[in-house]
Amino acid sequence: MKISKKYIDSFKGGLLINADCIEEMKYMDANIFDSCVIDPPYGIDFLGKKWDCFEAKEFQEWCTKWAIEVLRVLKPGGHILSFGFTRTYHRMVCGLENAGWEIRDTLAWINGKGYPKSKNLANEIDKLYGCSNRGHAVATASKLHPTTGLPLPSGEKLTKYQSRTKYSEGWEGWGTGLKPAMDLICLARKPLSENSLSENTLKWGTCGLNIDACRIPLDSEKDAITEQYEKQGRWPANVILDDDAGMLMNLQAGAPVSRFFYCAKPSDSEKNAGLEHLNKVRRDKGTGVMSKKMVQPQQNPHPTVKPVALLRFLCKLITPPNGVILDCFMGSGSCGIAARKEGFRYIGIELEKPFFETAKLRIEHWAKAA
Ligand SMILES: C[S@@+](CC[C@H](N)C(=O)[O-])C[C@H]1O[C@@H](n2cnc3c(N)ncnc32)[C@H](O)[C@@H]1O
Repeated sequence: MKISKKYIDSFKGGLLINADCIEEMKYMDANIFDSCVIDPPYGIDFLGKKWDCFEAKEFQEWCTKWAIEVLRVLKPGGHILSFGFTRTYHRMVCGLENAGWEIRDTLAWINGKGYPKSKNLANEIDKLYGCSNRGHAVATASKLHPTTGLPLPSGEKLTKYQSRTKYSEGWEGWGTGLKPAMDLICLARKPLSENSLSENTLKWGTCGLNIDACRIPLDSEKDAITEQYEKQGRWPANVILDDDAGMLMNLQAGAPVSRFFYCAKPSDSEKNAGLEHLNKVRRDKGTGVMSKKMVQPQQNPHPTVKPVALLRFLCKLITPPNGVILDCFMGSGSCGIAARKEGFRYIGIELEKPFFETAKLRIEHWAKAA
């Protein structure tokens, strides 16, 4: 569908499109959106999803492709906020920069509920010598004895339980990864078309951040001194905390600190609002991977749902009142709910039909309740 300037001028509410965003954006007029808030694929082969499988350089090139299109359709001075993963974030940022964006900042959403994805080095060594993951000996294809490392006499089978082989000694307690505790968000701006910030603002309504709309409310007594300087609340920071991270910081400070915006990971009820009548998604308790046997349609099947409160904060920060937000990696529609709750107009694009349908139901549910 061709989205023209004329269409946007009379556009109200929201529009959801089931398509490849790079192709879709090619048909849009230039300079029509006020901001872009996105959570694109991280390029880490997440749960084997095809849209997330890239080699590092290929990922950067792909980011450049969508970043060029978003740059074209945003108004000069318009901002983008784009989530990224700690390991591949740099490629996304280079992709944005190569496309012509001016990188302005990095926001970190610090959250305490992630699980470390780490290999146990001692276990890995034991496996090499025929011992399974937890240090148990198994009847194995290995031809070596787990403790001596010598070839097994013919006919001998490893059925005895073995705690550790001698080769893993000294490697107990070594791993390969840290606990993931932050999501990064790149803040970038389309170059101005006018000679100054003021002229650009007057012509397009873009290029500034809405600081006052995002101020952090003061914590009455403790903030008495600050109050005379920042009556409307604290200046928003480039760090956002979840409740766990906030609690740790409070403990260290010995008193509640209210310097940052707080936002928890989304609850199941938030993810599934409007989808309660559908089948529940079954996930493996350990890995969180969804059961393949699940009957469609089902409740929110998206593996990387972001919290609506965080997206509301981000939408407010970079979008002028009544602005139109582009979200070209819509997923299950969290940003759509956030944008609409804040009174912005919203256009979301999603490639996968089941996610698109989920987004439609979630956003419609919000609209009915509003
Ligand atoms: C990280 S998820 C977004 C999740 C979203 N924040 C939410 O809360 O549900 C990225 C989404 O981008 C979609 N996607 C991947 N490539 C795409 C493309 N070329 N065009 C449109 N959507 C795409 C994926 O299907 C996936 O749903």
